[in-house]
Amino acid sequence: MTREAGMLYIYETPAETAKELADLIVEYGASAIESRGRFVVALAGGNTPKAAYALLAQAPYSNAIDWSAVEIFFGDERCVPPDHEQSNYKMAFDAFIGPLDIPAVHVHRMRGEDDPQRAAFDYRGVLLDVLGEEPFFDLVMLGLGPDGHTASLFPGQDPLTEDEQKVRAAYSESQSQWRITLTPSVLNNAEAVCFAVVGAEKAATLAAVREGPYDPTRYPAQIIAPPDGELIWLSDKAAAAKS
Ligand code: 6PG
Repeated sequence: MTREAGMLYIYETPAETAKELADLIVEYGASAIESRGRFVVALAGGNTPKAAYALLAQAPYSNAIDWSAVEIFFGDERCVPPDHEQSNYKMAFDAFIGPLDIPAVHVHRMRGEDDPQRAAFDYRGVLLDVLGEEPFFDLVMLGLGPDGHTASLFPGQDPLTEDEQKVRAAYSESQSQWRITLTPSVLNNAEAVCFAVVGAEKAATLAAVREGPYDPTRYPAQIIAPPDGELIWLSDKAAAAKS
C-alpha cells in the first residue's frame, strides 16, 4: 500500500521547531477564520508543544488572529483533574489559553477527573454538539511517543479499536494511567494534521513511523493519514537524524 508519509520539515533546534509550530497555528487559524469564521483546533498534549503554546501568548502571535473565534479541543487527556500537573488542559491553559483570555465557552476540555468511560462518552457529545455528526478540524496537532504512540493510541492495540466511538478511554501500560483519546477517524478528518517531534530519543521511531513497514498496531502514529487534508511533520535535526 503506497502511503502518503507527509512532508518532513527539519529545523536546527527545538526552539526553532516551536516557532515554526506557532507560525503554522496562526497561519491555519487566520485562514480558517477568514474562510469559515472560526478556527477549530485539536491540541496536542505532552511536553513538545509547550514552547509553541507559550509563544502564542506573546506578540506577534497574541494579536495575529482573533482568539475569541477559536474553538479549542484536545486530542487526548490524561485521566487526572484539570489542575493536576499532568493535565494536558492545564499545560495549555497555563501556556496560552489563560494568558490570551480565550472564552471558556470555546475551550472544550476532556473531563480527566471523571470515570474514563463516562468522560469519553461525554466528550463525544460535546464534539458532536459543537461540530456536528462528522467533526472536522482546521488543524489537528499531534506528538509522537518514543514507542510510536500518538494522542493516546498506544502500541499493542489496533488503533482503529472502537473508532466509530470517535472518543474512547485507553489505558497506558507504560504510564499506568487511563487516558481519553480522539479516535483515528476524528483525528484524520482535518484540513491539516501536524506532528511536532523533537529530540534524539525520537529519531528511530520517527524514521520507523514515516518510512518503515506499515504496522499501525506496532506504530499507532502510522494510522494518521488525513484523506482530505495535509499531513505535516515538524522536527528538529536530532529527531530527524535517522530519517
Ligand atoms: C500526551 C500526548 C502524547 C504526546 C507524546 C509525545 O498526552 O502525552 O498526547 O501523545 O504527544 O507522548 O509527548 P512529548 O511531547 O512529551 O514527548
